[in-house]
Amino acid sequence: MNIYRKIINLNVNLAKLKKNGTTIGFVPTMGSLHEGHLSLLKRSKKENDVTIVSLFVNPEQFNSAVDLELYPRDELKDFKMLEEHANDIVFCPDVKEMYPKKEEHFFELDGLDSVMEGKYRSGHFQGVAKIVSKFFEIIKPNNAYFGKKDFQQAVIIKYLVKKYFKKSDINIVICDTVREPDGLAMSSRNLRLNKAQRKAAVLVSQTLFKYIKKDSKLSITDIKKKVFDTINENQYLQTEYFNIVNNETLQDIESERLEHGVTACIAVYADEIRLIDNVSV
Ligand code: PAF
Repeated sequence: MNIYRKIINLNVNLAKLKKNGTTIGFVPTMGSLHEGHLSLLKRSKKENDVTIVSLFVNPEQFNSAVDLELYPRDELKDFKMLEEHANDIVFCPDVKEMYPKKEEHFFELDGLDSVMEGKYRSGHFQGVAKIVSKFFEIIKPNNAYFGKKDFQQAVIIKYLVKKYFKKSDINIVICDTVREPDGLAMSSRNLRLNKAQRKAAVLVSQTLFKYIKKDSKLSITDIKKKVFDTINENQYLQTEYFNIVNNETLQDIESERLEHGVTACIAVYADEIRLIDNVSV
């Protein structure tokens, strides 16, 4: 596995590969890898000649200095995992390499960035758009892989590519959420949960699976109440938002019944640890 920390060195290798018509799959990550990331890597390996995984904790997408500070990091463990899964190239630049100077670029994201995560994490998606655009400009992958666990991010990246990378032909592949055996969506943040919080956290996916069903007899109003009440009754959990949205516009649906083409998205605090999940109908 080749490890690059500098854009220029990665570019030299990429130029050689592209000259030979090699197809490139790209898996952007913030490290602290788990089975969810590995599923993206496996898919990319199946569909491309060469796979590049990036490991970069992007400060621009954190709106809390504490959250950034506490974000788990273990580069050597990540390298080992990637090597064991036969990844080809890892790109792990430092902050100066990706942000040599202050940038004020604003991405117009058609309001997709102002609801749900965007409402509670101001500037988050501007930060995501900034770093993903930089990676896309450097790597120009044929295919880029994102997890459905970050549903809003996936919708925004698709929009970003449609609007800002019209000529580049980058295909965005959204892969299913990988879950722990009890249903908890895999996330690097799960590492921060203590025993009691971990036990409580499973209630998030369990509640979504119980109430988000295509043939549900409950109205949207009742579903929302049941979900909020079930989760908030747990002493460790507090729901930040629970929205049932159109898959493309991310706006709350107007209908009172669950219908095809909608996704229920939730953010819950397990004490101070923020977890997100979603289930589509
Ligand atoms: O999903 C993530 O881990 C991050 O938002 C991403 C896409 C790697 C950008 O920093």
